[in-house]
Amino acid sequence: MSLSSRFENIEMVQHLCSKLLEGRDVPEELRHWILMALREALANAIKHGNQQDTTKHVHLEMDIVGDTLAISIRDEGPGFDPEAVADPLAPENRLKTSGRGIFYMRTFMDDVRFRRHASGGMEIVLKKTLGAVNEKEEDRA
Ligand SMILES: Nc1ncnc2c1ncn2[C@@H]1O[C@H](COP(=O)(O)OP(=O)(O)O)[C@@H](O)[C@H]1O
Ligand SMILES: [Mg+2]
Repeated sequence: MSLSSRFENIEMVQHLCSKLLEGRDVPEELRHWILMALREALANAIKHGNQQDTTKHVHLEMDIVGDTLAISIRDEGPGFDPEAVADPLAPENRLKTSGRGIFYMRTFMDDVRFRRHASGGMEIVLKKTLGAVNEKEEDRA
């Protein structure tokens, strides 16, 4: 789906993701961290990528394949070099309250990848293994 670059949309997407996770045996804590990573990635796409220009869109895909949740978020901004992002654990950055979104995403998700998209903009792909699939869900499938 595509969304306009408004922070209000973050809550709606978190709700959708929560719905997607329903019916899976996802522990509450894991669900919490997934929704946090999702929020940080969306906030970056809206703020740093699209610079809150509401005519620009955030392109989102969320899917569960097997037992892995995959989320792709692409903005229409200039892109950036993820290697060049400051390390929030460096002594000079420890007291800063910003600059931790990517660090949190990398800490809690199994796989975090960035790439410049062919059509412009930056794409981030987040993956997380959800663990055992609920037997009832498997029977229904
Ligand atoms: N989608 C994006 N487009 C451009 N720059 C980005 C994007 N996402 C992150 N960045 C850059 O990476 C930095 C670190 O992001 P993050 O760890 O989330 O911290 P914060 O958002 O608090 O600055 C941002 O300050 C910004 O410079
Ligand atoms: Mg951020």
